Amino acid sequence: MLRTHTNGELRQEHVGQPVTLCGWVQRTRDKGAVLYLDLRDRYGITQVVFEQGVEAEQLREQARELGREFVVSISGTVAERYSKNPNLPTGDIEIRPTALTVLNAAKLPPFLIEDDTDGGDEARMKYRYLDLRRNPVRRNLELRHRLAQSVRRYLDGQGFLEVETPVLIKSTPEGARDFVVPSRMNPGQFYALPQSPQTFKQLLMVSGFDRYFQIVKCFRDEDLRADRQPEFTQIDCEMAFVEQEDILNTFEGLTRQLFVEVKGFDPGEFPRMTYADAMRLYGSDKPDTRFAMQFVELNDVAKGQGFPVFDNAELVVGINASTCASFTRKQLDELTDFVKRPQVGATGLVYARVEPDGTVKSSVDKFYSQEVLQQWKAAFGAQSGDLLLILAGPADKTRKALNELRLEMGQRLGLRNKEDFNPLWVVDFPLLEFNEEDGRHYAMHHPFTSPKPEDIPLLDTNPGQVRANAYDLVINGVEIGGGSIRIHDRAVQARMFELLGFSPEEAEAQFGFLLNAFEYGAPPHGGIAFGFDRLCSMFGGADSIRDFIAFPKNNSGRDVMIDSPSEISPAQLKELSIDTKVEAGK
Ligand code: AMO
Repeated sequence: MLRTHTNGELRQEHVGQPVTLCGWVQRTRDKGAVLYLDLRDRYGITQVVFEQGVEAEQLREQARELGREFVVSISGTVAERYSKNPNLPTGDIEIRPTALTVLNAAKLPPFLIEDDTDGGDEARMKYRYLDLRRNPVRRNLELRHRLAQSVRRYLDGQGFLEVETPVLIKSTPEGARDFVVPSRMNPGQFYALPQSPQTFKQLLMVSGFDRYFQIVKCFRDEDLRADRQPEFTQIDCEMAFVEQEDILNTFEGLTRQLFVEVKGFDPGEFPRMTYADAMRLYGSDKPDTRFAMQFVELNDVAKGQGFPVFDNAELVVGINASTCASFTRKQLDELTDFVKRPQVGATGLVYARVEPDGTVKSSVDKFYSQEVLQQWKAAFGAQSGDLLLILAGPADKTRKALNELRLEMGQRLGLRNKEDFNPLWVVDFPLLEFNEEDGRHYAMHHPFTSPKPEDIPLLDTNPGQVRANAYDLVINGVEIGGGSIRIHDRAVQARMFELLGFSPEEAEAQFGFLLNAFEYGAPPHGGIAFGFDRLCSMFGGADSIRDFIAFPKNNSGRDVMIDSPSEISPAQLKELSIDTKVEAGK
């Protein structure tokens, strides 16, 4: 070892010991009589003091020449500090140097390697290896490591086997586009990178592995958002001979252990909510339940009174922003502008205040008597000082818009604290989702998800009503994980493919391997996958998953550090039998 200790290790008890430390020069401060040097590594910072007359002048001269981020080795003796720094774990001691070796010089970094950096996003991504030297980013990856270790301990303890599945596969339809890889040995043919190991983990169940997990990279060619990367990591799991209840219990146990081991508290038993209730009460299948403000439907008390907007609407629905009656005209106009934004999509906002004397004053008073407004108040369970915010229009669209407004109000009222964690299971998802554009059904989760046995008869009569044995783990309005009990019967799986518009030939060509496997003794099975990057950013109190990934892509899906994707040579293209005459963008 080139060092005896790290820069986070030395304490009062080491005083008097000779040591050798290595690291990066965080900064030097030359005070004339004394020169201070902060030496940094992953573990912390140790102060080195070069005092006039004490250390050889040559050593002081050498230290004066050091620039930020030089890599050095310093030998010396641990001494007690005159003025201690309680904010630093090593703040009781300092090093009196006897030797200094520059292990490597460094160019001036393009941004400050400090907790609060002056580096913009682009520079930090281009020099990611420098950004990773900063405490906040390094701490995120340390958190990720701790979570991964805790996951492995728990699952190993429960008898799960970690099995690797291939990365060069064939496309699995799970909603996103595939990344494809040309095959040199099979001209004109392509592998696809897995969107998830879904079919492989099911095959492992057919093989009798019984409990499988993998912390695994998945690839999806979809538009990027704060919580999406083209390559991301799942904690992917599957179990045989289980029912939905067993899976929920096992993975609630995992999540609670992560909270206990990493955040230091147990969030308790997770509530369960049906998909239907989540949509009715929150307008979202991933409700943020850190705060209430549940939807109240007003069709009965709002329609038929001559206000055309409500009379013509499929749904009139609102929330009670309690204690917000004091919102100013300007604040209400802001909220109206908010709901009218194209991303939210409402046509307008109706509001009603409950006055100190209990009367209700609304923005549509000319259409509604006080008697009716009192019915609104009762429907919301509202009190003096409350503000009712109401939207109307087509049911799905209006619920979606009110969900956005609810989240915005939660934000404005400080009800979405990043250190509060409200996990819940959303269960009983619909099996299928109807797409108006092409007039056909799509699997809501994926085509391998089992319908609830009691709903199977509906497959022929009313497929849209069929519920699935599918569930999501939602924390603070973020979908952290999702899974389902699978179909393990060839005939049901074939029927499902048929419903999804596959001809028997297409089903055979795409999934013949799985259908065949089901004929060789497939056990009942089910599983779940957690979005590991999302879990990390949630535990780290951040909205974006990017800073919890060592080398992420930017918003255009590029790695600006290695400059990828990039063109390849004509020779490489030829070898891959790819037509070089097709120009980019055509
Ligand atoms: P699903 O598609 O719901 O299920 O994915 C599981 C979880 O992965 C996370 N996730 C993502 N995270 C970051 N970037 C992305 N682009 C991204 N896409 C998804 C989410 C999500 O909940 N095979 C099934 C699981 C199963 O049925 O067992 C699957 O992949 O947190």
